[in-house]
This record gives sequence, C-alpha cells and structure tokens, in this order.
Amino acid sequence: MTQLDDLSKDIWAKLLAAVDDAGAAFRCPVVAMNDGRGQPSARVMILRGADPSQCSLRFYTDRRSDKAKAILSVENGKAPAEVVLYDPVEMEQVRARGFVRVLDGGDTLLAWRQVPFGQRLVYCTAEVGKLVEEPDSGLPKELLDDGLGQQDRDAMSEAGQPNFMCFDVLLESMDWLGLRRDGNIAARFEGLRQHVPTAAWFIP
Ligand SMILES: Cc1cc2nc3c(=O)[nH]c(=O)nc-3n(C[C@H](O)[C@H](O)[C@H](O)COP(=O)(O)O)c2cc1C
Repeated sequence: MTQLDDLSKDIWAKLLAAVDDAGAAFRCPVVAMNDGRGQPSARVMILRGADPSQCSLRFYTDRRSDKAKAILSVENGKAPAEVVLYDPVEMEQVRARGFVRVLDGGDTLLAWRQVPFGQRLVYCTAEVGKLVEEPDSGLPKELLDDGLGQQDRDAMSEAGQPNFMCFDVLLESMDWLGLRRDGNIAARFEGLRQHVPTAAWFIP
C-alpha cells in the first residue's frame, strides 16, 4: 500500500465519519455549482452520505430551492459540482469534483424515511424565497403550536415529503492539500469512475 493509498483511505474515513457525527471536520462542506445562468453559486450543506465504492457524496435539499431548480434544469447526471471540505485541526482541504445525480422517486422516499421527524420540518415551509415584512421561517403556525402532541407533529411533518430532494455528487476527481509547517503538500486523485484511477503528489 502506497502513501497515496493511505491518504485516499484517510479521506474516505473522514467523509464517512462526518455522516454520523455532527461535530466531525467534514460535516458541513461547501457545495458549488453553476446557478443555471452561468454564474457560480456555492453554499454550506450537511454531508448526508459517503460511499467509497461508488465514489459518491450524498446531500438533501428542498426541491423548491434555487440550487434544486438549477440542478433540475439540466439532464440528470450532467450538472457539474465541486464539494469543498476543510479539517481545521489537521489543516487539510479536499476539493472533490463531479456531477450531480438526483435520486429517483423510490430512492428519494427511502432516504426520506431516514430523515428524523424534527429535521423533516424544514421541508414544510410555505413558498421558499417569498419576500416577507418580518423574519419568518415560513413554517405553518399549526406545526409550531405548543399544544400539538409529538405524534401529531410527526404526522404533519409528512407534508414536507414532496419538497424533499436527495442527490449524489458522483466524484470524478479530488485534490487534497495539507498545510504543513515545513511546506505544504498536495495530491490529486483522478479518473475515480474509471477502471484504473490515478493518484499523484504535486507541488501546491
Ligand atoms: C450549517 C448549515 C448547514 C446547511 N445544510 C443544508 C443542507 O443540508 N441542505 C440544504 O439544502 N441547505 C442547507 N443549508 C442552507 C444552504 O446553505 C442555503 O442557504 C440554502 O440551501 C439555499 O441555497 P440555494 O438558494 O443555493 O438553493 C445549510 C446551511 C448551514 C449554515
């Protein structure tokens, strides 16, 4: 096993750890895409899944959001995306590039079943992007009613399901950068979806 193999294993271990651990270094990457009008568009997202065998990263979003509209405006699997992750303790950056694949209805429903009820609420807002006079989450008042029992709240949160969208970024390449006192080092992993991926160190 080469040093580059070890590095790749370490990156995937950190990605997998972030899926289960809200405090993990790679939990909230920045996901950058084309906004659909040729402009860059980047935002923080929670990493919801990582699959080393498929070289993919999973994210949840609202189908009504601008990013979802931009993704859905191109053929599935054709929207380019870059996921940028930073570990502030080990001072390591990963820039992972690939294409967005939106899950189909059945797989989306399976993913929805994994979303805890409390987190389903964000998909229950009215009219994403609507301008309002005062700060307003857009959540239906009934859902915020203190008198509402947990079971009723859970049942009502099912209304968010049609707004839920799940997508994978199918990775093609990754750049890794390690900031070091004695000089920064970097590696590039390419052809991740090919039979024989390549890996090399480079001077950053
Ligand atoms: C810590 C944090 C985590 C977030 N996680 C998500 C997420 O998992 N999915 C998502 O759609 N938006 C998430 N957001 C909100 C996005 O950053 C963004 O504001 C929102 O999705 C609208 O982006 P858009 O207009 O580009 O669609 C998160 C924001 C923060 C600060």
